[in-house]
Amino acid sequence: MGMGYTPSPRLQTSLSGIALQSPILLASGTAGTLDEMSDVMDLSPLGGIVTKSITRQPREGNPFPRITWTRAGMLNAIGLANPGLDAWKSDIAPQIASVKTNIIGSVAGDSIDDYVQIASAMDAVEALQAIELNVSCPNVHSGLEFGADPAALKDLLNAVRASIPNTKLFVKLSPITVGTPHTIVDLARVAVDCGADGLTLCNTVPAMGIDVHTRKPILANTTGGMSGPAIHPITVRLVHLVYSQLTKDTNTPIIAAGGVTQWEDAAEFILAGATAVQIGAGNFADLSIPRKVVKGLDKWCAKQSAASITDLIGQVQLS
Ligand SMILES: Cc1cc2nc3c(=O)[nH]c(=O)nc-3n(C[C@H](O)[C@H](O)[C@H](O)COP(=O)(O)O)c2cc1C
Repeated sequence: MGMGYTPSPRLQTSLSGIALQSPILLASGTAGTLDEMSDVMDLSPLGGIVTKSITRQPREGNPFPRITWTRAGMLNAIGLANPGLDAWKSDIAPQIASVKTNIIGSVAGDSIDDYVQIASAMDAVEALQAIELNVSCPNVHSGLEFGADPAALKDLLNAVRASIPNTKLFVKLSPITVGTPHTIVDLARVAVDCGADGLTLCNTVPAMGIDVHTRKPILANTTGGMSGPAIHPITVRLVHLVYSQLTKDTNTPIIAAGGVTQWEDAAEFILAGATAVQIGAGNFADLSIPRKVVKGLDKWCAKQSAASITDLIGQVQLS
């Protein structure tokens, strides 16, 4: 789409050496399998797009209805509908080089072998800037999500790290560790120790809606993942915890995702410790949000007298 808008140099940043025009990315599952968004949105303000999670086999996803709006965001149980690895390799991978923004591939699976097969296929594609590992998927062996179990996460990440020598690895964690003895900082530490080049915080929050007239769950899948404004303050805290207790010292960049619909939301994430920020549900609400967020951050930097947005990372003033 026309009317290119180039963010000012003060918004330029980098994720472990990947140069970004601005810290704003589109989140996985909300922006297509490659650059479909370019039909409806000017991509030039963006730092990049994280594409839909790819699984080894094609998936149709869960039965409909699988998306519903709530007062404070979106509830979805898409169920990882995607074309699968073979179609990704033949139809999508060859086109990545021609896209004018950074493309980050997303991988999902339910065994270590699934993740390794997909990640190593992505590693072979030079134009792909990074791989984001969606670890909020159940491990078929333990039944637990990989991302909820430090031992399983460690085995997964060691295997994936060794199989992607050329590509940066971002690990996307779940916001929920309730019911486990672990905190998000424990899981983030495993990721950093296993060589993650970035942490994406976070995926959706498990949630449910009920139609009181029919008394049935609104989603055919019964439960789903909550995204949008409702989860923003929850995610700000998690970013703050992981930054202050871990990544401030390890220098691992945090890529925040959760309920960004206006520039202030992204600015909060940056002050809490994020280097970059993803927009997910916001893309369904209003396609002008990413551009407005970038413009707002630019003005905010100027008002804060920051020559670079990177000077504001983690700069929340605690008493
Ligand atoms: C419709 C929909 C589909 C999603 N699909 C994926 C996916 O395939 N892989 C993934 O890692 N996250 C997926 N997500 C989660 C988002 O990438 C993001 O982490 C989450 O929605 C929080 O950000 P938001 O509040 O800005 O949407 C999906 C979210 C939505 C709303």
